[in-house]
Amino acid sequence: SRRGFLLTAGVATGALAVGAVGVTAAVNNGTTGPAVAPGATEVVPFYGVHQAGIDTPPQSSGTFLGWTLKPGTDRETVRRMMRLLTDDAARLTQGEAALPDNDPYLATNPARLTATFGFGPGFFQKLGLSAEAPAGFAELPAFSIDKLQPEYSGGDLLIQLGSDDPLTLSHAVRQLTRTARSFATVAWSQSGFTRDQGTAPAGQTGRNLFGQVDGTVNPRRADEFAAQVWATGSPSWFDGGTSMVLRRIEMNLDTWDKLDEGAKELSVGRKLSNGAPLTGENEFDAPDLAAKDASGLHVIPTFAHMRRAKTDNPHEKFLRRPLNYDDGIHADGRTNAGLLFAAYMANIKTQYVPVQQRLSDLDLLNTWTTPIGSAVFALPPGCQAGGYIGEGLLA
Ligand code: HEM
Repeated sequence: SRRGFLLTAGVATGALAVGAVGVTAAVNNGTTGPAVAPGATEVVPFYGVHQAGIDTPPQSSGTFLGWTLKPGTDRETVRRMMRLLTDDAARLTQGEAALPDNDPYLATNPARLTATFGFGPGFFQKLGLSAEAPAGFAELPAFSIDKLQPEYSGGDLLIQLGSDDPLTLSHAVRQLTRTARSFATVAWSQSGFTRDQGTAPAGQTGRNLFGQVDGTVNPRRADEFAAQVWATGSPSWFDGGTSMVLRRIEMNLDTWDKLDEGAKELSVGRKLSNGAPLTGENEFDAPDLAAKDASGLHVIPTFAHMRRAKTDNPHEKFLRRPLNYDDGIHADGRTNAGLLFAAYMANIKTQYVPVQQRLSDLDLLNTWTTPIGSAVFALPPGCQAGGYIGEGLLA
Protein backbone atom coordinates (compact mmCIF):
# COMPACT_ATOMS: atom_id res chain seq x y z
CA SER A 1 0.00 0.00 0.00
CA ARG A 2 0.99 3.64 -0.25
CA ARG A 3 1.48 3.90 3.50
CA GLY A 4 3.77 0.86 3.35
CA PHE A 5 5.76 2.55 0.63
CA LEU A 6 6.23 5.71 2.68
CA LEU A 7 7.38 3.75 5.71
CA THR A 8 9.83 1.76 3.65
CA ALA A 9 11.23 4.95 2.14
CA GLY A 10 11.67 6.41 5.63
CA VAL A 11 13.61 3.39 6.86
CA ALA A 12 15.83 3.40 3.79
CA THR A 13 16.96 7.00 4.36
CA GLY A 14 18.95 6.45 7.51
CA ALA A 15 20.46 9.93 7.35
CA LEU A 16 17.01 11.44 7.59
CA ALA A 17 16.25 9.46 10.75
CA VAL A 18 19.47 10.60 12.44
CA GLY A 19 18.68 14.19 11.53
CA ALA A 20 15.24 13.83 13.06
CA VAL A 21 16.69 12.65 16.38
CA GLY A 22 18.94 15.71 16.49
CA VAL A 23 15.98 17.96 15.90
CA THR A 24 14.01 16.36 18.73
CA ALA A 25 16.89 16.91 21.15
CA ALA A 26 17.02 20.61 20.29
CA VAL A 27 13.32 20.99 21.00
CA ASN A 28 13.56 19.13 24.30
CA ASN A 29 16.35 21.43 25.46
CA GLY A 30 14.02 24.32 24.97
CA THR A 31 16.70 26.14 22.98
CA THR A 32 16.38 26.90 19.29
CA GLY A 33 13.99 24.25 17.93
CA PRO A 34 12.62 24.24 14.42
CA ALA A 35 9.28 25.75 13.55
CA VAL A 36 6.44 23.22 13.58
CA ALA A 37 5.89 22.01 10.03
CA PRO A 38 3.29 24.14 8.26
CA GLY A 39 -0.07 22.42 8.30
CA ALA A 40 0.76 19.94 11.08
CA THR A 41 -1.32 21.71 13.69
CA GLU A 42 -4.01 22.99 11.34
CA VAL A 43 -7.36 22.24 12.93
CA VAL A 44 -10.82 21.82 11.39
CA PRO A 45 -13.53 22.69 13.95
CA PHE A 46 -15.41 19.59 15.11
CA TYR A 47 -18.60 21.17 16.47
CA GLY A 48 -20.99 22.96 14.15
CA VAL A 49 -24.25 22.90 12.20
CA HIS A 50 -22.86 20.28 9.79
CA GLN A 51 -20.38 17.49 10.38
CA ALA A 52 -16.86 18.28 9.19
CA GLY A 53 -15.29 16.20 6.43
CA ILE A 54 -17.97 16.95 3.84
CA ASP A 55 -17.43 20.55 2.76
CA THR A 56 -13.85 20.33 4.05
CA PRO A 57 -11.44 20.42 1.08
CA PRO A 58 -10.27 16.80 0.67
CA GLN A 59 -7.33 15.84 2.85
CA SER A 60 -4.41 13.94 1.33
CA SER A 61 -5.29 10.66 3.12
CA GLY A 62 -8.62 9.15 4.08
CA THR A 63 -10.11 5.97 5.51
CA PHE A 64 -13.71 4.77 5.41
CA LEU A 65 -14.72 2.14 7.97
CA GLY A 66 -18.01 0.22 7.64
CA TRP A 67 -19.38 -1.47 10.77
CA THR A 68 -22.11 -4.01 11.56
CA LEU A 69 -23.91 -3.50 14.86
CA LYS A 70 -23.61 -6.50 17.19
CA PRO A 71 -26.81 -8.58 17.43
CA GLY A 72 -29.28 -7.27 19.99
CA THR A 73 -27.80 -3.74 20.12
CA ASP A 74 -30.56 -1.40 21.36
CA ARG A 75 -31.05 2.34 21.19
CA GLU A 76 -29.56 2.98 24.62
CA THR A 77 -26.40 1.10 23.67
CA VAL A 78 -26.12 3.00 20.40
CA ARG A 79 -26.53 6.30 22.28
CA ARG A 80 -23.59 5.31 24.46
CA MET A 81 -21.54 4.35 21.40
CA MET A 82 -22.23 7.67 19.65
CA ARG A 83 -21.40 9.65 22.81
CA LEU A 84 -18.04 7.87 23.08
CA LEU A 85 -17.24 8.14 19.37
CA THR A 86 -18.17 11.84 19.39
CA ASP A 87 -15.92 12.43 22.39
CA ASP A 88 -12.98 10.66 20.71
CA ALA A 89 -13.53 12.62 17.49
CA ALA A 90 -13.92 15.99 19.24
CA ARG A 91 -10.59 15.50 20.99
CA LEU A 92 -8.51 13.91 18.23
CA THR A 93 -9.54 16.42 15.57
CA GLN A 94 -8.37 19.26 17.82
CA GLY A 95 -4.97 17.65 18.44
CA GLU A 96 -5.82 16.21 21.86
CA ALA A 97 -5.44 12.59 22.90
CA ALA A 98 -8.56 10.45 23.15
CA LEU A 99 -9.54 9.01 26.53
CA PRO A 100 -7.76 6.72 27.16
CA ASP A 101 -4.99 6.94 24.57
CA ASN A 102 -1.90 4.75 24.89
CA ASP A 103 0.05 6.80 22.37
CA PRO A 104 -1.01 10.41 23.02
CA TYR A 105 2.00 11.89 21.19
CA LEU A 106 0.50 10.66 17.93
CA ALA A 107 -2.48 12.97 18.46
CA THR A 108 -0.54 16.25 18.42
CA ASN A 109 -0.44 16.88 14.63
CA PRO A 110 -4.10 16.84 13.56
CA ALA A 111 -3.20 18.16 10.07
CA ARG A 112 -6.87 18.93 9.31
CA LEU A 113 -8.08 15.61 10.76
CA THR A 114 -11.84 15.20 10.43
CA ALA A 115 -14.10 12.41 11.69
CA THR A 116 -17.54 11.99 10.14
CA PHE A 117 -20.22 9.49 11.14
CA GLY A 118 -23.07 7.93 9.17
CA PHE A 119 -25.90 5.43 9.66
CA GLY A 120 -26.66 2.73 7.07
CA PRO A 121 -30.09 1.26 6.23
CA GLY A 122 -29.51 -1.60 8.69
CA PHE A 123 -28.97 0.89 11.51
CA PHE A 124 -32.48 2.27 11.09
CA GLN A 125 -34.01 -1.21 10.69
CA LYS A 126 -32.25 -2.83 13.65
CA LEU A 127 -33.19 0.04 15.99
CA GLY A 128 -36.81 0.20 14.85
CA LEU A 129 -36.23 3.67 13.40
CA SER A 130 -37.08 3.03 9.74
CA ALA A 131 -39.85 5.65 9.85
CA GLU A 132 -37.19 8.24 10.77
CA ALA A 133 -34.89 7.50 7.80
CA PRO A 134 -34.18 10.52 5.57
CA ALA A 135 -36.28 11.12 2.46
CA GLY A 136 -34.99 9.07 -0.47
CA PHE A 137 -32.63 7.08 1.73
CA ALA A 138 -32.31 3.44 0.64
CA GLU A 139 -29.79 0.99 -0.83
CA LEU A 140 -29.15 1.76 -4.49
CA PRO A 141 -31.02 -0.35 -7.05
CA ALA A 142 -28.91 -2.94 -8.89
CA PHE A 143 -27.13 -1.57 -11.98
CA SER A 144 -26.07 -3.74 -14.93
CA ILE A 145 -22.45 -2.50 -14.67
CA ASP A 146 -22.18 -3.63 -11.02
CA LYS A 147 -19.93 -6.49 -9.93
CA LEU A 148 -20.37 -5.85 -6.23
CA GLN A 149 -18.38 -7.77 -3.66
CA PRO A 150 -19.85 -8.15 -0.17
CA GLU A 151 -16.50 -7.31 1.44
CA TYR A 152 -16.78 -3.73 0.14
CA SER A 153 -20.54 -3.27 0.48
CA GLY A 154 -23.20 -2.34 3.03
CA GLY A 155 -22.66 -1.48 6.68
CA ASP A 156 -24.76 -0.16 9.60
CA LEU A 157 -22.30 2.51 10.74
CA LEU A 158 -19.78 4.60 8.81
CA ILE A 159 -16.71 6.22 10.29
CA GLN A 160 -15.02 8.45 7.73
CA LEU A 161 -11.63 9.90 8.64
CA GLY A 162 -9.36 12.23 6.70
CA SER A 163 -6.05 13.96 7.46
CA ASP A 164 -3.12 15.48 5.63
CA ASP A 165 -0.86 13.24 7.72
CA PRO A 166 -1.09 9.43 7.23
CA LEU A 167 0.40 8.77 10.67
CA THR A 168 -2.23 10.93 12.37
CA LEU A 169 -4.89 9.21 10.30
CA SER A 170 -3.71 5.75 11.29
CA HIS A 171 -3.73 6.75 14.95
CA ALA A 172 -7.25 8.16 14.72
CA VAL A 173 -8.49 5.02 12.94
CA ARG A 174 -7.06 2.96 15.78
CA GLN A 175 -8.61 5.06 18.54
CA LEU A 176 -12.09 5.13 17.00
CA THR A 177 -11.85 1.44 16.14
CA ARG A 178 -11.12 0.61 19.77
CA THR A 179 -14.28 2.45 20.83
CA ALA A 180 -16.51 1.10 18.05
CA ARG A 181 -15.35 -2.50 18.55
CA SER A 182 -17.27 -2.76 21.82
CA PHE A 183 -20.53 -2.23 19.93
CA ALA A 184 -19.96 -3.41 16.36
CA THR A 185 -17.79 -5.58 14.11
CA VAL A 186 -15.83 -4.26 11.14
CA ALA A 187 -17.57 -4.94 7.82
CA TRP A 188 -14.85 -3.32 5.68
CA SER A 189 -12.05 -0.76 5.76
CA GLN A 190 -11.03 1.24 2.68
CA SER A 191 -8.26 3.82 2.42
CA GLY A 192 -7.37 6.29 -0.29
CA PHE A 193 -5.46 9.43 -1.10
CA THR A 194 -5.23 12.63 -3.10
CA ARG A 195 -2.11 14.70 -3.70
CA ASP A 196 -0.16 15.66 -0.59
CA GLN A 197 -0.69 19.18 0.69
CA GLY A 198 1.95 21.56 -0.59
CA THR A 199 2.59 19.61 -3.79
CA ALA A 200 -0.02 21.55 -5.78
CA PRO A 201 -1.50 25.05 -5.48
CA ALA A 202 -4.31 25.27 -2.90
CA GLY A 203 -7.72 24.80 -4.45
CA GLN A 204 -6.41 23.13 -7.62
CA THR A 205 -8.73 20.35 -8.82
CA GLY A 206 -7.22 16.92 -8.12
CA ARG A 207 -6.42 14.14 -10.58
CA ASN A 208 -7.47 10.49 -10.49
CA LEU A 209 -5.29 7.50 -11.44
CA PHE A 210 -6.37 7.78 -15.11
CA GLY A 211 -4.60 11.14 -14.99
CA GLN A 212 -7.86 13.03 -15.46
CA VAL A 213 -8.65 16.30 -13.75
CA ASP A 214 -11.51 15.04 -11.55
CA GLY A 215 -13.83 17.34 -9.59
CA THR A 216 -14.27 20.31 -11.93
CA VAL A 217 -18.07 20.40 -11.81
CA ASN A 218 -18.79 20.43 -8.07
CA PRO A 219 -20.58 22.68 -5.58
CA ARG A 220 -18.15 25.21 -4.11
CA ARG A 221 -20.21 28.12 -2.73
CA ALA A 222 -22.33 27.89 0.42
CA ASP A 223 -25.54 28.42 -1.58
CA GLU A 224 -24.61 25.48 -3.83
CA PHE A 225 -24.02 23.29 -0.78
CA ALA A 226 -27.38 24.43 0.62
CA ALA A 227 -29.14 23.51 -2.63
CA GLN A 228 -27.41 20.18 -3.28
CA VAL A 229 -25.84 18.74 -0.16
CA TRP A 230 -27.52 19.76 3.11
CA ALA A 231 -30.91 18.22 3.86
CA THR A 232 -33.76 20.37 5.10
CA GLY A 233 -36.84 19.25 6.97
CA SER A 234 -37.26 15.66 5.85
CA PRO A 235 -37.32 14.55 8.63
CA SER A 236 -36.52 17.46 10.95
CA TRP A 237 -33.80 15.63 12.97
CA PHE A 238 -31.87 15.36 9.67
CA ASP A 239 -31.80 19.15 9.04
CA GLY A 240 -28.20 20.01 8.13
CA GLY A 241 -27.31 16.37 7.52
CA THR A 242 -26.59 14.74 4.17
CA SER A 243 -26.69 11.31 2.53
CA MET A 244 -23.65 9.61 1.14
CA VAL A 245 -23.07 7.07 -1.61
CA LEU A 246 -19.73 5.28 -1.46
CA ARG A 247 -18.82 3.25 -4.54
CA ARG A 248 -15.57 1.34 -4.82
CA ILE A 249 -14.80 1.51 -8.53
CA GLU A 250 -11.91 -0.52 -9.87
CA MET A 251 -10.04 1.22 -12.69
CA ASN A 252 -8.26 -1.01 -15.17
CA LEU A 253 -5.03 0.93 -15.57
CA ASP A 254 -3.51 -1.82 -17.70
CA THR A 255 -6.07 -1.60 -20.55
CA TRP A 256 -6.33 2.20 -20.10
CA ASP A 257 -2.58 2.34 -20.79
CA LYS A 258 -3.21 1.00 -24.29
CA LEU A 259 -5.12 4.17 -25.33
CA ASP A 260 -3.51 7.24 -26.82
CA GLU A 261 -4.22 10.67 -25.37
CA GLY A 262 -6.93 11.52 -27.92
CA ALA A 263 -8.89 8.32 -27.21
CA LYS A 264 -8.63 8.89 -23.48
CA GLU A 265 -9.98 12.42 -23.88
CA LEU A 266 -12.96 11.26 -25.96
CA SER A 267 -14.07 8.85 -23.21
CA VAL A 268 -14.74 11.74 -20.84
CA GLY A 269 -15.10 14.72 -23.18
CA ARG A 270 -12.36 16.74 -21.49
CA LYS A 271 -8.67 17.39 -22.13
CA LEU A 272 -6.12 15.54 -20.05
CA SER A 273 -3.72 18.50 -19.93
CA ASN A 274 -5.93 20.87 -17.97
CA GLY A 275 -9.44 19.36 -17.75
CA ALA A 276 -10.93 21.80 -20.30
CA PRO A 277 -13.97 20.54 -22.23
CA LEU A 278 -13.02 19.35 -25.73
CA THR A 279 -14.89 22.42 -27.04
CA GLY A 280 -12.97 24.88 -24.82
CA GLU A 281 -9.54 26.04 -23.67
CA ASN A 282 -9.70 26.28 -19.89
CA GLU A 283 -10.91 23.94 -17.13
CA PHE A 284 -13.99 25.95 -16.20
CA ASP A 285 -15.11 26.86 -19.76
CA ALA A 286 -18.73 25.85 -20.38
CA PRO A 287 -18.87 22.77 -22.64
CA ASP A 288 -20.65 23.10 -25.99
CA LEU A 289 -22.57 19.83 -26.26
CA ALA A 290 -24.03 20.78 -29.66
CA ALA A 291 -20.65 21.40 -31.36
CA LYS A 292 -19.79 19.04 -34.25
CA ASP A 293 -16.54 18.43 -36.11
CA ALA A 294 -15.99 18.48 -39.89
CA SER A 295 -17.31 14.92 -40.26
CA GLY A 296 -20.51 15.78 -38.42
CA LEU A 297 -19.66 13.98 -35.18
CA HIS A 298 -20.16 15.57 -31.78
CA VAL A 299 -16.88 17.04 -30.49
CA ILE A 300 -17.95 15.82 -27.05
CA PRO A 301 -19.10 12.31 -28.06
CA THR A 302 -22.57 11.00 -27.22
CA PHE A 303 -20.96 8.26 -25.10
CA ALA A 304 -18.63 10.64 -23.20
CA HIS A 305 -18.80 10.32 -19.40
CA MET A 306 -19.17 14.04 -18.94
CA ARG A 307 -22.09 14.36 -21.36
CA ARG A 308 -23.90 11.39 -19.78
CA ALA A 309 -23.32 12.63 -16.20
CA LYS A 310 -24.10 16.26 -16.90
CA THR A 311 -27.53 17.58 -16.06
CA ASP A 312 -29.34 20.88 -16.23
CA ASN A 313 -31.81 19.60 -13.65
CA PRO A 314 -30.88 21.45 -10.43
CA HIS A 315 -32.33 18.51 -8.45
CA GLU A 316 -29.83 16.00 -9.92
CA LYS A 317 -26.61 17.68 -8.75
CA PHE A 318 -24.39 16.61 -5.86
CA LEU A 319 -20.91 16.80 -4.32
CA ARG A 320 -18.22 14.37 -5.47
CA ARG A 321 -15.34 13.96 -3.01
CA PRO A 322 -13.49 10.86 -4.23
CA LEU A 323 -10.18 9.42 -3.07
CA ASN A 324 -7.85 7.34 -5.21
CA TYR A 325 -6.92 3.89 -3.96
CA ASP A 326 -3.90 1.82 -4.88
CA ASP A 327 -3.76 -1.53 -3.12
CA GLY A 328 -0.89 -2.99 -5.11
CA ILE A 329 -1.28 -5.75 -7.68
CA HIS A 330 -3.79 -8.61 -7.93
CA ALA A 331 -2.42 -12.16 -7.88
CA ASP A 332 -3.11 -12.40 -11.63
CA GLY A 333 -0.89 -9.35 -12.29
CA ARG A 334 -3.60 -6.73 -12.81
CA THR A 335 -3.26 -3.42 -11.01
CA ASN A 336 -5.51 -3.25 -7.93
CA ALA A 337 -6.41 0.42 -8.07
CA GLY A 338 -9.32 2.74 -8.60
CA LEU A 339 -11.55 5.30 -6.99
CA LEU A 340 -13.34 5.42 -3.65
CA PHE A 341 -16.13 7.44 -5.22
CA ALA A 342 -17.78 9.29 -2.34
CA ALA A 343 -20.77 11.47 -3.24
CA TYR A 344 -22.91 13.58 -0.89
CA MET A 345 -26.44 14.82 -1.51
CA ALA A 346 -29.63 15.69 0.37
CA ASN A 347 -31.63 12.92 -1.33
CA ILE A 348 -30.09 9.77 -2.86
CA LYS A 349 -33.17 8.68 -4.77
CA THR A 350 -33.90 11.94 -6.58
CA GLN A 351 -30.38 13.39 -6.94
CA TYR A 352 -28.02 10.42 -7.36
CA VAL A 353 -29.92 7.45 -8.80
CA PRO A 354 -30.97 9.11 -12.11
CA VAL A 355 -27.35 10.08 -12.86
CA GLN A 356 -26.00 6.65 -11.94
CA GLN A 357 -28.71 5.03 -14.10
CA ARG A 358 -27.69 7.13 -17.13
CA LEU A 359 -24.03 6.21 -16.63
CA SER A 360 -24.92 2.54 -16.27
CA ASP A 361 -26.94 2.66 -19.52
CA LEU A 362 -24.17 4.35 -21.54
CA ASP A 363 -20.74 5.72 -20.65
CA LEU A 364 -17.58 4.81 -22.54
CA LEU A 365 -15.64 5.05 -19.27
CA ASN A 366 -17.40 1.82 -18.22
CA THR A 367 -14.97 0.01 -20.57
CA TRP A 368 -12.18 0.57 -18.04
CA THR A 369 -14.12 0.91 -14.75
CA THR A 370 -16.06 -1.62 -12.64
CA PRO A 371 -18.06 -0.84 -9.48
CA ILE A 372 -17.05 -3.54 -6.98
CA GLY A 373 -18.41 -2.05 -3.76
CA SER A 374 -21.44 0.02 -2.80
CA ALA A 375 -22.79 1.47 0.43
CA VAL A 376 -25.13 4.28 1.49
CA PHE A 377 -25.19 6.20 4.74
CA ALA A 378 -27.23 8.98 6.32
CA LEU A 379 -24.78 11.47 7.86
CA PRO A 380 -26.54 13.33 10.70
CA PRO A 381 -26.03 17.07 11.19
CA GLY A 382 -23.21 18.26 13.43
CA CYS A 383 -23.54 18.83 17.17
CA GLN A 384 -22.46 21.36 19.78
CA ALA A 385 -20.11 20.80 22.74
CA GLY A 386 -21.84 18.51 25.23
CA GLY A 387 -23.95 16.88 22.52
CA TYR A 388 -23.25 13.90 20.27
CA ILE A 389 -23.62 13.02 16.60
CA GLY A 390 -27.04 11.47 15.97
CA GLU A 391 -28.67 12.90 19.10
CA GLY A 392 -31.64 14.26 17.11
CA LEU A 393 -32.51 10.70 16.08
CA LEU A 394 -31.47 8.76 19.16
CA ALA A 395 -32.26 11.04 22.12
C1 HEM B 1 -17.40 14.28 -14.18
C2 HEM B 1 -14.15 10.71 -13.88
C3 HEM B 1 -17.48 7.88 -11.77
C4 HEM B 1 -20.62 11.54 -11.86
C5 HEM B 1 -16.25 13.56 -14.30
C6 HEM B 1 -15.03 14.02 -14.92
C7 HEM B 1 -14.13 13.03 -14.80
C8 HEM B 1 -14.76 11.92 -14.14
C9 HEM B 1 -12.69 13.05 -15.28
C10 HEM B 1 -14.84 15.39 -15.59
C11 HEM B 1 -14.34 16.46 -14.68
C12 HEM B 1 -15.27 16.84 -13.56
O1 HEM B 1 -16.27 17.56 -13.73
O2 HEM B 1 -14.99 16.38 -12.45
C13 HEM B 1 -14.79 9.63 -13.28
C14 HEM B 1 -14.16 8.33 -13.06
C15 HEM B 1 -15.10 7.54 -12.47
C16 HEM B 1 -16.31 8.34 -12.32
C17 HEM B 1 -12.75 7.96 -13.41
C18 HEM B 1 -15.02 6.11 -12.00
C19 HEM B 1 -13.90 5.49 -11.75
C20 HEM B 1 -18.63 8.62 -11.62
C21 HEM B 1 -19.85 8.16 -11.00
C22 HEM B 1 -20.72 9.19 -11.02
C23 HEM B 1 -20.06 10.31 -11.66
C24 HEM B 1 -20.06 6.77 -10.40
C25 HEM B 1 -22.14 9.26 -10.51
C26 HEM B 1 -23.01 8.30 -10.54
C27 HEM B 1 -20.01 12.59 -12.48
C28 HEM B 1 -20.63 13.89 -12.63
C29 HEM B 1 -19.71 14.69 -13.32
C30 HEM B 1 -18.54 13.85 -13.55
C31 HEM B 1 -22.01 14.31 -12.13
C32 HEM B 1 -19.89 16.14 -13.74
C33 HEM B 1 -20.61 16.19 -15.05
C34 HEM B 1 -20.82 17.61 -15.54
O3 HEM B 1 -21.75 18.26 -15.06
O4 HEM B 1 -20.03 18.07 -16.38
N1 HEM B 1 -16.05 12.26 -13.84
N2 HEM B 1 -16.07 9.58 -12.83
N3 HEM B 1 -18.79 9.91 -12.02
N4 HEM B 1 -18.76 12.60 -13.03
FE1 HEM B 1 -17.44 11.08 -13.00
